[in-house]
Amino acid sequence: MPRPINILFVSPEAHPFAKTGGLGDVSGALPHALKELGHDVRVMLPKYRCVEQAKRLIQPTGLKVSVPIGAETQHGELHVGRLNRSVPIYFVDHPGYFDRDGLYGNGEGEFPDNAERFMFFSRAVLEACKTLDFKPDIIHCNDWQTGLVPCYLKNGYGQDPFFAHTRSVFAIHNLGYQGNFHERYLPMAHLPWSLFTLEGLEFYGQFSFLKAGLVYADALTTVSKTYSKEILTPENGFQMDGVLRHHQEKLFGILNGADYGEWDPQTDRHIKTRYSPKSLKGKQECKKSLARKFSLKLTDQTPVVCMVTRLSPQKGIDLIIENFPRLMHLKAALVILGVGDDTYETFFNDQDRHYRGQFRYVPGFDEKLAHQIIAGSDILLMPSLYEPCGLTQMYALRYGTVPVVHQVGGLADTIKAFQAGSHQGTGFLFKSPEGKTLLDTLGKVLDTYRKKRSWRKLMINGMQQNFSWEKAAKHYERLYRKTLVI
Ligand code: ADP
Ligand code: GLC
Repeated sequence: MPRPINILFVSPEAHPFAKTGGLGDVSGALPHALKELGHDVRVMLPKYRCVEQAKRLIQPTGLKVSVPIGAETQHGELHVGRLNRSVPIYFVDHPGYFDRDGLYGNGEGEFPDNAERFMFFSRAVLEACKTLDFKPDIIHCNDWQTGLVPCYLKNGYGQDPFFAHTRSVFAIHNLGYQGNFHERYLPMAHLPWSLFTLEGLEFYGQFSFLKAGLVYADALTTVSKTYSKEILTPENGFQMDGVLRHHQEKLFGILNGADYGEWDPQTDRHIKTRYSPKSLKGKQECKKSLARKFSLKLTDQTPVVCMVTRLSPQKGIDLIIENFPRLMHLKAALVILGVGDDTYETFFNDQDRHYRGQFRYVPGFDEKLAHQIIAGSDILLMPSLYEPCGLTQMYALRYGTVPVVHQVGGLADTIKAFQAGSHQGTGFLFKSPEGKTLLDTLGKVLDTYRKKRSWRKLMINGMQQNFSWEKAAKHYERLYRKTLVI
């Protein structure tokens, strides 16, 4: 038996404590799956205001960490709770940085001190390992907010005997978010100017936290096979493709799982009536309840299409907006739950008033409603321009809500095209993000919806898919071992 691995999982979000999107779901589930394989796993997060609001048991440990930031020393305190009742999760408390509404920004935009907040967090987690006397074999970092961890490890902390055997893995959940800041933050982070080069931290004249992770981690992962190839190209590389090609030999694609403990219509505590592939009656109840809640006027033949999404250009929102009147010509109702860019919110608010009975827009982030909408809809639309993995379509499959997706990234890897003849497949994919393609595809979807037998088969095919975290965790375990041998 190989010995268990000590894993420190560092993330800017983890459900149910803090979540703005799929990274929250991943960090809420993967650590537990790794623990189930027998490893010693600990999670670290900033102690945002929402962590208290999550109403889970968290206690101060009395342990302190100190981090030099510029000419000052900033102090944090560690609090501890449990994820999935099993994994210790430590929160770095520093009210000045984290006790405010929002994780990375608020209605007025990104917080102006994000560089400082996350350089503090990244270094605080290394200090916390020493304070806790937890010697990680692997530090698994996630997204730009944690990008400086591998950099500090390679430049300073690695020389400390405490971290002599520690290796880092950096997971890319979305290359579109890079944490690029002014070079003046380099001395503030106590990193030497010698690192501010093309091979190091410099990115078009800026100090890039994402690039720090890409360059200095011992291994890189991203959340689907297809996305791991797409990001090597100029079209999808967000100008980081050159850096990624340079480090290609340490880049791996590992598909996310879905947490069926949270997302399963047989056990879901948020939905009106539970259901399963064997008994789909409950789904009709969920649909009726949704229609009532949103005053949708439906006939037996009207499918409900939904989107549960961040309102950002990545999610293909412009495609929806440009084709909105044509979408409203289809014989379908549409429900959108989402927060994000003001212009998108304003547009959907206006349409909500205009198309009452057929369209409903719900602004805000509402976990419970997300479950109710996915359960009560017939179709989930994800026209994302790019999608590293996407979890919403995996959840939709489980709920018998048929995904209609742009064939990119993780969407291409998780949805199989429905074949009318053989009744194989789980959803519909369109190749180009254009109005005509979208509408033609939706036309086909609605034709299939009217063929009750085909539609039922399609739903059941989806409900029987299994994107387990156990499988993903085994891939990570293999990668960790490989990284430790190098
Ligand atoms: P991304 O991480 O790019 O936002 P994913 O599909 O991977 O996309 O994950 C999105 C997660 O966030 C899902 O759990 C989805 O249900 C949730 N979500 C997105 N928008 C909202 C919202 N407005 N309210 C509640 N949950 C939301
Ligand atoms: C990002 C991506 C999404 C992915 C999620 C979790 O937010 O946009 O595709 O599912 O991270 O990895």
